[in-house]
Amino acid sequence: MKEPASHANPPVDGSELIRFDHVTKRFGSNTVLDGLDFSVDAGKHVTLIGPSGSGKTTILRLLMTLVKPDEGTITVAGDQLFPASEKQVREVRKKIGMVFQQFNLFPNMKVLRNITEAPVTVLGMSKDEAEQRARELLDLVGLADRCDAYPTQLSGGQQQRVAIARALAMRPQVLLLDEVTSALDPELVAGVLDVLRDIARTTDITMLCVTHEMNFARDISDQVLMFDSGHVIETGPPEKIFGDPEHERTREFLGAVL
Ligand SMILES: Nc1ncnc2c1ncn2[C@@H]1O[C@H](COP(=O)(O)OP(=O)(O)O)[C@@H](O)[C@H]1O
Ligand SMILES: [Mg+2]
Repeated sequence: MKEPASHANPPVDGSELIRFDHVTKRFGSNTVLDGLDFSVDAGKHVTLIGPSGSGKTTILRLLMTLVKPDEGTITVAGDQLFPASEKQVREVRKKIGMVFQQFNLFPNMKVLRNITEAPVTVLGMSKDEAEQRARELLDLVGLADRCDAYPTQLSGGQQQRVAIARALAMRPQVLLLDEVTSALDPELVAGVLDVLRDIARTTDITMLCVTHEMNFARDISDQVLMFDSGHVIETGPPEKIFGDPEHERTREFLGAVL
């Protein structure tokens, strides 16, 4: 199961990989992020928690350059995202893999092809190499025997595990996970979280994770950011945030979700 640590440009462990400086994002008159500052070091697992509608998905979408900030700067591995040329944006996107709440697999492609498609077309990997890598990743997510299935033949949990394999196939430096178990039937959640625990334990990939699964967050996180009203209101190791939160708002939130 050991995943080789082989990125094109491995970041020095502990160096800053993601940085938000005074980032403000508005939708019309709704200020969703209000001068947000935070950073994530290479190789770390950071979990974002906070109420629904507080802007967590927006943070991930900014990193994917799917939306633009109104103010402030965002850098990934030292490259500023806005403004950036199309070429720079493509380079940054290659460094980032994202898995969403909805699995979004290509329905007309078998599982194996779902995983090999982007490495072949975007990275220029040979079909053989991409398939070999895809089989290793399917093994990692416990689906080595489902290469030839179509997505609709899989459970939601299996589809989400394929989506995780697909994201890893691009050898990203960062994996963004946005409530990846929220759309699953309860009995399928544990299998997906176990795969993510394995990835956190056995790879050097940086993880930025939005989740309401607090036990999972406690297990994998180096750092937890409690987020509300456009700001990080409290941050610390999971023992601190879950065991002895300082902020009243954090206590209320954890009381409601735990
Ligand atoms: N494309 C958009 N257009 C208008 N409003 C948006 C858009 N995306 C998000 N919002 C608003 O921004 C706020 C934060 O949303 P989101 O980042 O999805 O929060 P979270 O992921 O924490 O639930 C919400 O009020 C949401 O309605
Ligand atoms: Mg969200």
